[in-house]
Amino acid sequence: MSNDARLIAGNEEYTYPVVSGSVGPDVIDIRKLYAQTGMFTYDPGFTSTASCESALTYIDGDEGVLLHRGYPIGQLAEQSSFMEVSYLLLNGELPSPGQLKDFSHTISRHTMLHEQLMTFYRGFRRDAHPMAIMCGVVGALSAFYHDSTDIADPVHRKISSHRLVAKMPTIAAAAYKYSVGQPFVYPDNSLSYTGNFLRMTFGVPAEKYEVNPVVERALDRIFILHADHEQNASTSTVRLAGSSGANPFACIAAGIACLWGPAHGGANEAALNMLKEIGTPDRIPHYIERAKDKNDPFRLMGFGHRVYKNYDPRATVMQSTVREVFKSLNVTDPLFETALRLEELALNDPYFIEKKLFPNVDFYSGIILSAIGFPTTMFTVLFALARTVGWVAQWNEMISDPGQKIGRPRQLYTGPTSRDYVSLDKR
Ligand code: ACO
Repeated sequence: MSNDARLIAGNEEYTYPVVSGSVGPDVIDIRKLYAQTGMFTYDPGFTSTASCESALTYIDGDEGVLLHRGYPIGQLAEQSSFMEVSYLLLNGELPSPGQLKDFSHTISRHTMLHEQLMTFYRGFRRDAHPMAIMCGVVGALSAFYHDSTDIADPVHRKISSHRLVAKMPTIAAAAYKYSVGQPFVYPDNSLSYTGNFLRMTFGVPAEKYEVNPVVERALDRIFILHADHEQNASTSTVRLAGSSGANPFACIAAGIACLWGPAHGGANEAALNMLKEIGTPDRIPHYIERAKDKNDPFRLMGFGHRVYKNYDPRATVMQSTVREVFKSLNVTDPLFETALRLEELALNDPYFIEKKLFPNVDFYSGIILSAIGFPTTMFTVLFALARTVGWVAQWNEMISDPGQKIGRPRQLYTGPTSRDYVSLDKR
């Protein structure tokens, strides 16, 4: 029997090839549908639409599986480093020791920002949200690094990718420093990627900063957990922006803007704010009832996911990392107890069971980041920092594809049909 999909529209039957990937659902290739039938498909929110081919990341949402280039996220989070995962995403294979050393060295040689770019910060209000600063400063990179914006040149693409991964911690730390009125701290390339970021964020010129290895490891792991997540909203934004031939700095700025929203990367900030609002475990049932009430816009932040209909594997690692960080810093946070109790009650509630709503990566991340010392406004910035490597890897994959086209969705038009203009004096 043919593996084609048959579509009957009116009196006609059309066939479309069914294409299999290496794993996961097959897709129906409908590229000829409009030319043959004069009809579009309608899929707002892209719940059933594969927008591209990709060999980077695979998610099985029903089973709670996340693989980068085939490697399970749990193994990468436990055994790898963010630099190694970055190499893997960008190059397709785990690096040899020599390749990892060279890659880390290359990234460390791009950590500084053009000095003039630092003056951009002073144009922002002191109380500007750091994500607003990120959108502006990352977009502005294209005005400073013209020598790597020829997207047709693979060498330019490689350099701009390295620049973005390397400069993001410097940009993010400076956004934080500006908000607290402290001097910017320049990178120290003798430190690891994550250790350097911690120093630029929490160090001050007046004192020597010692990187706490447990915190460094925990944050590195958080970066791994956020490195890529296939065709989510911000990654699709980067690809769509890039499909027009826009330079990579502009594309990543577009991804950052999309990530900011509370339904996406902004959820980690919203989840911690929600836990603070709930406060003590005795108030949880009231909030669970609110989340279930269709007339109340309140949702449990950090719960539910478009793809995962099972426990988000990243949330599992995040929960154990909270315990590690608390132990190392010798701190506790009553909000962690509230979060654990909220998870337990929600996971036993028929509403959440029926709708398959589980904690996602954002549910516990805010608690760790808060224990490390980051204010809530920085949470989404950290997500953007880590996701940059995924965005550039996806962008590179798209640009290297010889069949790549500008992304241009169609629509179901529901506005007025053609009518004649009425002059102002007749209206
Ligand atoms: N609390 C209460 N109810 C929820 C929640 C929630 N967190 N999430 C989904 N639901 C309900 C919806 O009301 C809907 O109910 P209905 O079928 O009766 O209308 C049903 O579950 C399906 O939800 P949708 O919004 O249709 O699912 P979608 O896939 O579009 O949304 C999303 C996924 C945006 C993540 C959603 O679950 C949500 O808003 N969660 C809270 C925000 C959040 O944590 N976002 C982070 C996502 S992970 C990331 O970006 C890193």
